[in-house]
Amino acid sequence: MQERAQILVVDDEQQMQTAMEAVLARMGHAVLKAENGKQALEILERAKPDLVISDMRMPVMTGSELLAKIREGQPQLPVVMITAYGTIEQAVEAMRNGAFDFITKPFSAEELERVVTRAINPVKRATATREIKEAKRDSLAIVTSDAAFKRVLEIAVSVAQSSASVLIQGESGTGKELIARLIHTSSAQATGPFVAVNCAALPENLLESELFGHEKGSFTGAVGTKIGKFEQANGGTILLDEISEMELPLQAKLLRVLQEREVDRIGGQKPIPVDVRVVATTNRDIRQSVAKGDFREDLYYRLNVIPLYVPPLRDRRGDVQLLLEHFVRTFAGGNPRKITPELLNELKGYPWPGNVRELQNACERAVLLAQGDKLEAQHFLLGALRDAPGEEGGSDALRLHSGLSVAEAERRLIFETLRATNNNKTKAAELLGISIRTLRNKLHEYGGDSA
Ligand SMILES: Nc1ncnc2c1ncn2[C@@H]1O[C@H](COP(=O)(O)OP(=O)(O)OP(=O)(O)O)[C@@H](O)[C@H]1O
Ligand SMILES: [Mg+2]
Repeated sequence: MQERAQILVVDDEQQMQTAMEAVLARMGHAVLKAENGKQALEILERAKPDLVISDMRMPVMTGSELLAKIREGQPQLPVVMITAYGTIEQAVEAMRNGAFDFITKPFSAEELERVVTRAINPVKRATATREIKEAKRDSLAIVTSDAAFKRVLEIAVSVAQSSASVLIQGESGTGKELIARLIHTSSAQATGPFVAVNCAALPENLLESELFGHEKGSFTGAVGTKIGKFEQANGGTILLDEISEMELPLQAKLLRVLQEREVDRIGGQKPIPVDVRVVATTNRDIRQSVAKGDFREDLYYRLNVIPLYVPPLRDRRGDVQLLLEHFVRTFAGGNPRKITPELLNELKGYPWPGNVRELQNACERAVLLAQGDKLEAQHFLLGALRDAPGEEGGSDALRLHSGLSVAEAERRLIFETLRATNNNKTKAAELLGISIRTLRNKLHEYGGDSA
């Protein structure tokens, strides 16, 4: 049973007030009502509610002003702010100014119930309001000097404490998973599990059982009971990678999980409640998928409560230097390497289609391939070995290996890499950024190896 609490609802809209009162009363709570911030403060002088729920936009005094006053006078009193959809700035500001959580209009009765339950539960609240504000960026070694990207990280930390879903958009290799981990470690569920699922990696039926689990014998091949990733992530965070690749029927099931906060194992008898923060990523323009009917609009809105966009590396050239230094230091270990201004220039001019991951791999290769302590552009094999060279990448590669044909440069690099890895083809392929199959084909072509 839930404890009975007294809740102050502040909203200038009569209808909203009445609707919230109905939900809260049904939960067994007592409701106090105020039409604006001034009235709310008057009530707070004589009553001692356990929770305040306040709209953001009101006459007389804004929700932010009310929040500031409450934080001054009663810092222990949890405040939940109601923000309009799409006003991410408001939500972030509220969290930064000490709101316990926020809900986005329009919201369902279940959402209101969930937030209220979290807010009035002293144990959950204690963990939630712990010192989690300070950025966890350093512990995750997120390197950047870019203002736009820093802003993304700030928002990520600010909203981590709320239970809202987050959608992270950005090209491949930009650092989306790092941000998902930042959100997790900055959240009240930081001690809970962090579970990642790549939605593009499995066919639909397998993905369903991966996410939601199945009971023994529920389909051919279901030899044992399987606990799904949602259940595994209970009390923590689930990362749904490449969410835009999910098929429509499964999207419908996911939507249900997000709405009801419970999962149905395939072949299961009854739903299992889960308390999981959802972070999803995509490297496509998901709005376009919505427009084309490939992605459910309602699921999009449900996931996109907090949209984060990670800029590609070519739009934050200043980071190339920082990251280069960071990765070279990491991979070089006790054997430091020099980065010349010429090299830096070359690398800054390269478009980095694979973003930070490509730079990271290139640094690992370069450190391995360079014989002396001086790193040269040619050690970075930029774009030279892409299975399908991009237009920009191709010309850069030519420039970097000036004097050599691409084919010859490629051949040499492959043999150098094999030498550096003691002929370990798996490792060499990884460092070269090509599949092991491509590597074998190339070796076959050169007649250097028939394997
Ligand atoms: N700002 C950064 N500082 C340090 N390392 C970074 C940064 N951004 C990304 N990385 C590193 O680059 C690699 C790729 O990052 P990550 O996996 O987060 O990218 P992603 O956007 O999830 O990629 P994908 O779309 O391919 O899944 C990781 O090894 C990560 O640690
Ligand atoms: Mg990723």
